[in-house]
Amino acid sequence: MKLFIKKPIAQLMAASKETEKTLKRTLGVGSLIALGVGAIIGAGIFVRTAAAAGEHAGPAVTISFLIAASGCALAGLCYAEFASMIPIAGSAYTYSYATMGEFIAWIIGWDLVLEYALGAATVAIGWSQYFNEFLNTFFHVHIPFVWSHAPWETNISQTGLYINEAHGHGIVNLPAIFIVLMLTLLLIRGTAESAIVNNVIVVVKVAIVLMIITLGWQFINPANHTPYLIPANAGIVKTSTGVINYADTFNHGWLGVLRGASVVFFAFIGFDAVSTAAQEAKNPQKDMPKGILISLAFCTLLYILFSHVLTGLAPYKDFLIKGKEASVTYAITQFMPGYGWLASLVTIAILAGFSSVILVMLLGQTRVFYTMSIDGLIPPVFSKLHPKHRTPYKSQWLFFVFVSIFAGFIPDTIVGDMVSIGTLFAFVLVSLGILILRRTDPDLVRPFKTPLYWLVCPLGALICLFMIASEGIGNWARLIVWLLIGFIVFFGYSIKHSKVRHGIVEPAEDPINPKFVE
Ligand code: ALA
Repeated sequence: MKLFIKKPIAQLMAASKETEKTLKRTLGVGSLIALGVGAIIGAGIFVRTAAAAGEHAGPAVTISFLIAASGCALAGLCYAEFASMIPIAGSAYTYSYATMGEFIAWIIGWDLVLEYALGAATVAIGWSQYFNEFLNTFFHVHIPFVWSHAPWETNISQTGLYINEAHGHGIVNLPAIFIVLMLTLLLIRGTAESAIVNNVIVVVKVAIVLMIITLGWQFINPANHTPYLIPANAGIVKTSTGVINYADTFNHGWLGVLRGASVVFFAFIGFDAVSTAAQEAKNPQKDMPKGILISLAFCTLLYILFSHVLTGLAPYKDFLIKGKEASVTYAITQFMPGYGWLASLVTIAILAGFSSVILVMLLGQTRVFYTMSIDGLIPPVFSKLHPKHRTPYKSQWLFFVFVSIFAGFIPDTIVGDMVSIGTLFAFVLVSLGILILRRTDPDLVRPFKTPLYWLVCPLGALICLFMIASEGIGNWARLIVWLLIGFIVFFGYSIKHSKVRHGIVEPAEDPINPKFVE
């Protein structure tokens, strides 16, 4: 049995020609960068920065961002090489099918569910926190704790957020499910997220981050930055999801900074979304690498400055209790007197910004599964298009259920860590993939070549592996269980139905929707 059977590149390119009838090549490098930034800035910076600072890294979360960024930049170079080599839609799954064969493509495609579907769930949970903050600010009401939190979360009295509620557990996070439902309905109707709308949301998000940095800078309290790394004797704090003991290995010092990197890594996820738009790029070979790398560099700079300000405003321990939810609004209201208007603005901008990230994630997920279904690796239901809207509506509904289970019933720290470990794993495979391909297929045409590939590829893989190692046994177990389920599906279904394996060549259907058409 040929586990590593490859999809012919000629076949992929032919399919790409078919689809050019409907997909317009409208995106220049500016729009590609905006697309990247639009998918990158979201819950990572506005929710997980505080979590990483509070639980693991303290003010040194800035260094965590640097570590995570270097892993992403090195993997990003490898992504760019793939994207320029095979400039068609489908992301890492498609590249690996053509170059590393079906089994690796399967692992990556299956693994991308953790990135896209669970990524959507994590951002939806963050959306729920800021939605409650929005209701609180503008209408002085909030959705009760039990209906806006997962069953494993406890309403400890010292949170200060819901002080007048009885001590208790969450039941289900309804706002998180609500936003996933709304965006699912939007995607089914085929409402294209145009480049213009995306650009507006990007401008708003970037403007908010810049305002927090510039206005917040003067309120930085140097005492909050000292010591810069969490000391081992910083104590024990009870939180709504458990207990944080700073003496634990990954909760202080440099190992805490490393663990923090795997938490804030989430904030960079999405730059690879640029690669899914390869078919809509005017000049993919030149512009894709630029789009990926410039959006990454830009966000890294913003993140480091932002986290410096956030940890300068509030003591890092605040982010475990009082400022655990809607942390940015908390820091502004508590420590930037006179800037209540900024807190309100941030809340609204975050709600809009998170929605666009969830939308892109849900869209990316169904696109990858659409392609896998056309290839016969998963059942045809995932490529069934709506008769009128021509969107994969059944797949969209199935993923609504799947994403809602995580968004509604699991705490964000657990779902977010699953997203990070899944994506890190995909990055390891992509980095090693480029390394191997340079050896096995040196003659492939590569419009963009990863510089110093013999260093960049292994180093990228290594940094990502270090971050995976710091995630701890619970997260490794979750990744392994997910991959094992994937193997069962692969050997039980995919091998029997694979079109490439059985020599079936079909013209590609029209793509799902003409996204980002100006
Ligand atoms: N990078 C995206 C975010 O932070 C996933 O929301």
